[in-house]
Amino acid sequence: MIDVRVCEVGLRDGLQLVSTFFPTEEKLAWIRAEAAAGVREIEVTSFVPPKLVPQFVDAEEVVREALKIPGLSVMALIPNMKGAERGFALGVHQLDFVMSVSRTHNLKNVRRSREESIADLKRIVEARNAQPEGRRPKIVGGLSTALGCSYEGRIPVDDVRRYAAQLAACGVDEILVADTVGYGDPAQVRAVFKAVMAEVGRIPVGAHFHDTRGTGLANVAAALDLGVRRFDASLAGLGGCPFAPGASGNIVMDDLVFMLDSMGLRTGIDIEKLTCVRAILEKNLPGTELHGAVAKAGLPTQYVKADARAG
Ligand code: COA
Ligand code: ZN
Repeated sequence: MIDVRVCEVGLRDGLQLVSTFFPTEEKLAWIRAEAAAGVREIEVTSFVPPKLVPQFVDAEEVVREALKIPGLSVMALIPNMKGAERGFALGVHQLDFVMSVSRTHNLKNVRRSREESIADLKRIVEARNAQPEGRRPKIVGGLSTALGCSYEGRIPVDDVRRYAAQLAACGVDEILVADTVGYGDPAQVRAVFKAVMAEVGRIPVGAHFHDTRGTGLANVAAALDLGVRRFDASLAGLGGCPFAPGASGNIVMDDLVFMLDSMGLRTGIDIEKLTCVRAILEKNLPGTELHGAVAKAGLPTQYVKADARAG
């Protein structure tokens, strides 16, 4: 039983900011070790032009191998139709379409207007629906910079609501509200998620927070109170958009799993096995700062996991 879905995005959001190539076999070791720790959803790569982000030159190989792991839902980021086609060809399980609520960030990041992004998404959902049965990936509509933008500052709640409505109208299976540059606070999270959830009805709404200014887990707590049950995070808090000045790490996955588990919310993830996976990052990212309070402090004395309490 799972109460809250936790999705690893470090292989995409984390590695896109790392200039040295993380070897393909090591990416796969990371994916396999997390799957063995109980992580069920991993964004394993990004279908963007390798010329733009060389880290993902091995996207096809990573997806092909990740798809062999039993029980794992394999996800990839896409900015356009070309990315979606690469995903369809491989039989990926989930595609995370990215657009920004901020006009400027959308232009800088995906080089098109928000209207063009929406039009592209509509075509992508239609193309997905035309795939043979069993090969129709779930499409997640991501709204980047929904809680602030390093070009435009504060983003009006009504803009987020409006674009969420447009994603819903395109036929996405899920909406992901993202605080790309870590400007959000719990009061703002309540306002934005409330508006989005009221707008899109039964479509599940997930949260993608960055901990750039230390508000990451507080924002999770606020979203949980509203009923959000799907969170992105990255092991050791890697992360950040290379096309958003000042962006830094996602919320620390190990700390998020500990907080949820401690609250009695089951994630299916074994926190001790998860923290051991950090060794793969330590080995491959010398000089990159790794974050994590639980990794530093250890579990509380006589800690009882949520699974054991639920039983
Ligand atoms: N995968 C691989 N190649 C792609 C591609 C994709 N998803 N999309 C476009 N291309 C190729 C095209 O085929 C074309 O190749 P050619 O020069 O050999 O003909 C070239 O890239 C340019 O295509 P175009 O459609 O003109 O793209 P663009 O230059 O306008 O860039 C995006 C648009 C969306 C592809 C680019 O801005 C992008 O990938 N942005 C995402 C950036 C990112 O990773 N941000 C962080 C995640 S939030
Ligand atoms: Zn992000």
